[in-house]
Amino acid sequence: MDIVNCASGRDFIERAARLARHSDSPDHYTRTYLTRAHRAAAAEIAQYMRDSGMAVRTDAVGSVIGRYEAAAPGARTLLMGSHFDSVRNGGRFDGVMGILVPIACVERLHAAGRRLPVALEVAAFADEEGARFQTSFLASRAMVRGSASLAGLLDRRDADGVALGDAMREAGLDPAAADAQRLDPRSLAAYVEVHIEQGPVLLQEGRALGVVTSIAAGLRYLVKVRGEAGHAGTVPMPMRRDALAAAAEMVVEAEKRCSAGGSLVGTVGVLRVKDATANVIPGEVEFTLDVRAADGKAHFAAAREVLASCAAIAKRRGVRVEHAKTHEVPAVPCAPWLQDRIAASIERTLGDGEARRLPSGAGHDAMILAEVTDVAMMFVRCGAGGVSHNPAETVSAEDAQAAIDALSDFLEGFEGKSEERRAKSEEK
Ligand code: GLV
Ligand code: MN
Ligand code: MN
Repeated sequence: MDIVNCASGRDFIERAARLARHSDSPDHYTRTYLTRAHRAAAAEIAQYMRDSGMAVRTDAVGSVIGRYEAAAPGARTLLMGSHFDSVRNGGRFDGVMGILVPIACVERLHAAGRRLPVALEVAAFADEEGARFQTSFLASRAMVRGSASLAGLLDRRDADGVALGDAMREAGLDPAAADAQRLDPRSLAAYVEVHIEQGPVLLQEGRALGVVTSIAAGLRYLVKVRGEAGHAGTVPMPMRRDALAAAAEMVVEAEKRCSAGGSLVGTVGVLRVKDATANVIPGEVEFTLDVRAADGKAHFAAAREVLASCAAIAKRRGVRVEHAKTHEVPAVPCAPWLQDRIAASIERTLGDGEARRLPSGAGHDAMILAEVTDVAMMFVRCGAGGVSHNPAETVSAEDAQAAIDALSDFLEGFEGKSEERRAKSEEK
């Protein structure tokens, strides 16, 4: 392809920095669903899309979608994208990379006056991390499954008591419209997500890019422990039913069980003490339990055993424990034919031998898109030791450039009517 000198790795870094200024906090980067900062970021992303020659629409849940038409009408659509919400005090490239890299590729095509045999769409998903309303993959689920995916969520409240449904209405969104906007699987050629690796593998091996083989399965629970609140100075130790001390034992038990090896991992990321006060014995505590495994199986037994241990700990300590499953995703394989194409593009771009293939321990919107089309992911080296979900998360301009070049190469060779393509709609 004629390389037009725009949309460089340096532009990418600058755009990511500008987008990161749209934060819920003045002190760090946190962008949660439908806050003022989130809506400002959506507007800026829409502008980048328009500037690169795309027609832009916003869907029922606030995702921003840019479309670059194919050379001829009637072509299928190659969908690319990722999310623009973040975890609290997170890194500026998580999600945003999978939006800005494909926009840069479209910008190059547009500057060269070129169109491809497939239409290109870039979806900036409004909510994937779900940090505000505890709603993982809300936006990609709405795009794939329609309003049914939102039904049980609209009453959920954020930390200030604002209901999700009210936040959507206040932002001018209509959750019911998600049905009319559901993706038509027959129109799709594939879904491709570019993402920062969020781990140290590529960094340690000195590689800028990698191909994802599969995405790990995950389970999440909300666990509630109820003991008895009491005076910190007067209740003798043997008479206490301390919900926090019980929860602490449960957290350590989860860590122990999930350290069994392989790809199994387990995390307690939230622990809340109700009415927490220094001179009150904690009466009620809730915590989250997130368990994952790349093999798609080991997490089930681990979660079951951790929850059984929680029940045993509660019994011994005279407290009550209950749990509710809040999230479940199966492991998702990336389509082999797409993996091969991405690998070939990486090999042509980097010229340093066979592309590294690696699994993803993190969840991605691709897991949801896999319900309706073949999916693939390209990983980009994560600097600073491979840390992510952390403000230290970083990517170099050179690696971003390599990602733009490799994705451009992939797009150039993508006809959207390959014999290899296995659109899931056609199997049914
Ligand atoms: C998303 O970042 C996840 O893996 O939880
Ligand atoms: Mn993330
Ligand atoms: Mn992400």
